[in-house]
Amino acid sequence: MRILSKEGNELVLLSITDDAVEKGDYVLIEDIKSKRKLIVQVYEEEYLNIPSLIQDIVKDEIVKASSREGLHDPLNISNLSVMVRDAKLFKCKIRAAIYNGILSNNVSWIPSRVDSKITKLKVSDLDVLLARKGMFPIDIGKTSDNDQFKIYAEDLDGSLNVITGKKESGKSHLAKTLVKKLVEHGAFVIVFDLNNEYGGLAWNRDGTPSTINERISIKEPGSGLKFALNYTGKGAIVNMLKYALDMPTASMREFFRIWDWLNARDSLGIERLGNAITNWNINEHVRDALISRLYSIQASKLFTDDSTKSCRFEEIIKQNKNGLALVVGMGKTSSIVRRMTVELVLSKLIELLEHDSIPPIFIFAEEAHLYLRETYWEDVITRMRHFGIYTTFITNQPDAINDSIYRQVDNIFLFNFTNDADLERISRVSVVDTDTIKSIVRTLPQRHCFVVGKAVRDLPVAIKITDSQVLTLGNTKKFFKIKN
Ligand SMILES: Nc1ncnc2c1ncn2[C@@H]1O[C@H](COP(=O)(O)OP(=O)(O)OP(=O)(O)O)[C@@H](O)[C@H]1O
Ligand SMILES: [Mg+2]
Repeated sequence: MRILSKEGNELVLLSITDDAVEKGDYVLIEDIKSKRKLIVQVYEEEYLNIPSLIQDIVKDEIVKASSREGLHDPLNISNLSVMVRDAKLFKCKIRAAIYNGILSNNVSWIPSRVDSKITKLKVSDLDVLLARKGMFPIDIGKTSDNDQFKIYAEDLDGSLNVITGKKESGKSHLAKTLVKKLVEHGAFVIVFDLNNEYGGLAWNRDGTPSTINERISIKEPGSGLKFALNYTGKGAIVNMLKYALDMPTASMREFFRIWDWLNARDSLGIERLGNAITNWNINEHVRDALISRLYSIQASKLFTDDSTKSCRFEEIIKQNKNGLALVVGMGKTSSIVRRMTVELVLSKLIELLEHDSIPPIFIFAEEAHLYLRETYWEDVITRMRHFGIYTTFITNQPDAINDSIYRQVDNIFLFNFTNDADLERISRVSVVDTDTIKSIVRTLPQRHCFVVGKAVRDLPVAIKITDSQVLTLGNTKKFFKIKN
């Protein structure tokens, strides 16, 4: 390979022979005289396109089509010309430089076009250069050199992550791998599961219990997941009424009075709340508003007056000191109850974190736009992160996540997208340039993921995600099944 040109932070390499590099690979360019090195990443592959070359190809085809005899070519010129026609250009982005064996961001020099040694750089060698290591590894797949690739749980800690890609590309599969490893490492994870598929984490494919079998708790809103009013507290209930049930302000004021009155008598409960609303001396419109919300609350079955049946996060965590995945199974839950559940859970978690009653929590939110209100986005990335709620959004609709999230995201796991609008959207992620994302993500094969961000020290890598040993649930139900 040879350097052909450089423009901005882009280098073009010319390759005549069949060099084994492909999109996403890293290449090391060593300037032999100055001993400086550049690390570049291939993001696009093209033919060498010179007009005279195209003319030649066309002429050659015409000659071949019109003559039957073999052409006399004693000097083997045609072979050479075939090589030229097959020459490829590799467009690369300059990512880093190395001086005296130390990685640097100073890439303001250009290597010699004549005296440069160009070699492929394996991701495992890159890791050594980056000193990318940690205490809590998470094996996620293999690099293009077939080396095992891991990220570290520390890189997800305190971070905001996004897993996105088109339908059935393998997003939930990767999310499950991350959840499983986080729990194995002792973390507390809450999953908002829309397809009731994370329960499979408890079992291996062969039916034996998985490594985290005892550390998975699946709770469905209304059956396993219930709260007592005096546990959730006024704040969480108010958030739920305001954001999930759209309660008007005037009714909210009356609700406060009723709540305080019941609370002062130590008699908070759904039934007593109902009685108080019916007998309270209020405007009939306000009463109607309160009663309709009360019906929704009763229908959700999210509340219980029996405080022994109430879910208490701090106790669940205390009983599972070695880590836990609390899966909130919302596959069969109506959209309104989903919203209520998420409001309650998040409000309560924030309150507990504010009082240091629980350690930081990882949240995995599948298709969060279906149950998380817009204003929570900002909350999640600023306030919640500050308190210790570290979120991973999983979605196949990149436009459901707004720009402020993309700008602050620490890690993004990108699966294939072919739709231009989707590519445009995700290419706004600030941690890597638009050209790389658009070009690499468009042609990523199935089960491959482009990892960008803190986990790879801002040098993005394409990874083939490995199959998992745990049971995979949540496959799309099909009417026509292939009969064996
Ligand atoms: N790396 C992998 N190795 C083997 N099978 C995989 C891999 N990744 C995903 N699969 C399988 O492919 C199918 C789709 O994967 P998955 O459910 O993770 O996709 P998804 O992107 O979450 O889809 P959706 O958008 O529908 O939620 C599943 O049956 C899953 O088991
Ligand atoms: Mg999924």
